[in-house]
Amino acid sequence: MRPHCFVVVPAAGSGRRMGAAVPKQYLELAGRPVLQHTLERLLAVKEVRHVMVALAAEDDRWPGLSVASHPRVLTTVGGAERADSVLAGLRSLEDIATAEDWVLVHDAARPCLRPDDVVRLLERLAEDPVGGILALPSVDTLKEVEAGTIRKTLDRGRVWRALTPQMFRYGLLRESLEQALVAGRVITDEANAIEHAGLQPKIVEGSPDNIKITRPEDLPLAEFYLGQRL
Ligand code: C5P
Repeated sequence: MRPHCFVVVPAAGSGRRMGAAVPKQYLELAGRPVLQHTLERLLAVKEVRHVMVALAAEDDRWPGLSVASHPRVLTTVGGAERADSVLAGLRSLEDIATAEDWVLVHDAARPCLRPDDVVRLLERLAEDPVGGILALPSVDTLKEVEAGTIRKTLDRGRVWRALTPQMFRYGLLRESLEQALVAGRVITDEANAIEHAGLQPKIVEGSPDNIKITRPEDLPLAEFYLGQRL
């Protein structure tokens, strides 16, 4: 039997870096909340069986989204850090996902995701035992810095920026994240938890417009990217 494909969307952040009263996943973008755009793009991929959204316990904006009542959308309560929210999402899938099924983790704050990129990720990794992520080669020269001083220049040909979705087998990802959190590691993306488990995730080149809304100036840029393709 072919493995099924699920998505976990961590959407329980408070958006401190945005400095806005509204968490960034609910900021308005081209007339709709960021999270609505993100979920519509994921639901456009027919291979996705269910999208599990991890929300903050005190979230009262979610019911206002039209996508909240979509039959393929499920919700759970997230945690203190992004990795805790992802793990909460994975645990909430345990009755419907098997160890060999695929899970794609995608940031709520990346609303410009191209459904075609998700399909390409699914196709490229279909036979892979571990999984992998969308990523972009670095266009800038990158420096390792300590206390305001350059320590060394990284080899640009070997440095990529990790995007989402990040796609792994359900059982492997859940175990790797659980172990990393028990070990007290700071985990900022799923690939890092898999690396700590001694495995090597693949990379699939993504699109530069798959930006993460982090600062206020990212919103007009995201609006521009959305308008380009709609
Ligand atoms: O803050 P950052 O940009 O790393 O957040 C990435 C994603 O993780 C966002 O979609 C945010 O809502 C989510 N997140 C979460 N739970 C947290 C912190 C962040 O689901 N405790």
